[in-house]
Amino acid sequence: MKIAVAGTGYVGLVTGVCLAEHGHQVTCVDVDEKKIEVMRRGKAPIYEEGLQELMDRNRERLTFTTAYQKAYRDAEVIFIGVGTPEKVDGSANLKYVYRVAGQIAESLEQDCVIVVKSTVPIGTNDKLESYIRERLVRPVQVDVASNPEFLSQGTAVRDTLHASRIVIGAETDRAREALEKVYETFEAPKLLTNRRSAEMIKYASNDFLALKISYINEVANFCEAIGADIEDVARGMGFDQRIGGRFLNAGIGYGGSCFPKDTKALHWLGNYYDTEFKTIKAAIEVNDNQKLKLIKKARQYYDSLEGVRVAVLGLTFKPGTNDLREAPSIRNVGILLDDGAEIFAYDPVAEAEFEMLYPGKLRYCRTPEEALEGAELCLIFTEWPEIKGLTPEVFCRKMRRPVILDGRNCYPVEAFDSYPVIYNSIGRRTVQNVEEKKGR
Ligand code: UDX
Repeated sequence: MKIAVAGTGYVGLVTGVCLAEHGHQVTCVDVDEKKIEVMRRGKAPIYEEGLQELMDRNRERLTFTTAYQKAYRDAEVIFIGVGTPEKVDGSANLKYVYRVAGQIAESLEQDCVIVVKSTVPIGTNDKLESYIRERLVRPVQVDVASNPEFLSQGTAVRDTLHASRIVIGAETDRAREALEKVYETFEAPKLLTNRRSAEMIKYASNDFLALKISYINEVANFCEAIGADIEDVARGMGFDQRIGGRFLNAGIGYGGSCFPKDTKALHWLGNYYDTEFKTIKAAIEVNDNQKLKLIKKARQYYDSLEGVRVAVLGLTFKPGTNDLREAPSIRNVGILLDDGAEIFAYDPVAEAEFEMLYPGKLRYCRTPEEALEGAELCLIFTEWPEIKGLTPEVFCRKMRRPVILDGRNCYPVEAFDSYPVIYNSIGRRTVQNVEEKKGR
């Protein structure tokens, strides 16, 4: 089929490339000239496992352009995969979606099905359809359908090619049939529903996962208070298939481009319709507090962080991506800097991006070992393999005072038992083999 995709971020680009892999002729559209030029030269502008290979393999089926009119005018299906960032009040900002909708309306020269992949508030597909129909320049038939994505950063290609499910929210046979044809060769279970339900499935799924994480984090905090072990507790819960063992990793809270934004957006929508999501409100609050967990723990060991040399290991919101959006490291580093700490940071990929947030304020190290050299406190924000591979012996040898605060439970607690360290993680017992002296 002849398909156009608006937006070449994680969602748009991965969707476009995977559709090309399934034999469709795909034109990817973006306003960013530089990015388009990079892709024209055959290079993926983001790192996602498998993406470059798929781009190479499907070169003749993929076109990259900023000329939206040419891309949209005779497309059978147009996917909208642009961002829906958070507004100050927590609601979703739809200006990019509407901009694309306007461009589509002015460009279409034949009947077309417009598919919204971006995460949008429930009811947006209905409004978009009217918006486009009112602005059509030529007498063509336009139907809007919802087809949310469920891809995670780092596994986006796999999540798209081997989707857990393909949700098709359509109001007309024409739209439904077009999407069934697009996904004909995909082997995922397909759920056909109406547009509002499809839009809701996306929010309900993401927010449920966010709830799950906040719940396990609260259980972890309680485990610390009463002397239970969160890893065993989570494992014990996970055997029950109704609960499931995944997404029960306690830590310093969720970040990224989806959970923080989608929880706030659904909470905002709930209030708008006068049916507040109290559970989601709680998940947001729990997560905000959880992000400061390591700083609170640090105060147990230091009255003041003025002049304390701190190793910060991991900056991104999760491993396998250089994305810093809503990463817990950001607020924590801000507080450490306000407190006068000297920060030596290590992250395998996000140094340049982090430097833009705090220009000239941190020193970056090429290895975690280098960051630990002479440190009096170590905070772990991301479970990168390079960080998980460190041994207690390395912490002891490198750090001047080995106080290790692990926000991602990277190591078994027992590993530290016979070392002169303080090892304090989330929801587990603390190893305290050196004196808990406050101050310096
Ligand atoms: C998420 C959803 O997983 C995906 O289905 C949706 O389409 C987009 O949002 P993503 O944001 O890429 O994907 O990352 P994910 O792997 O879900 O992790 C999000 C955050 O939750 C990370 O900060 C991660 O560290 C945290 N997390 C995840 C936990 O703290 N504990 C867990 O058990 C799982």
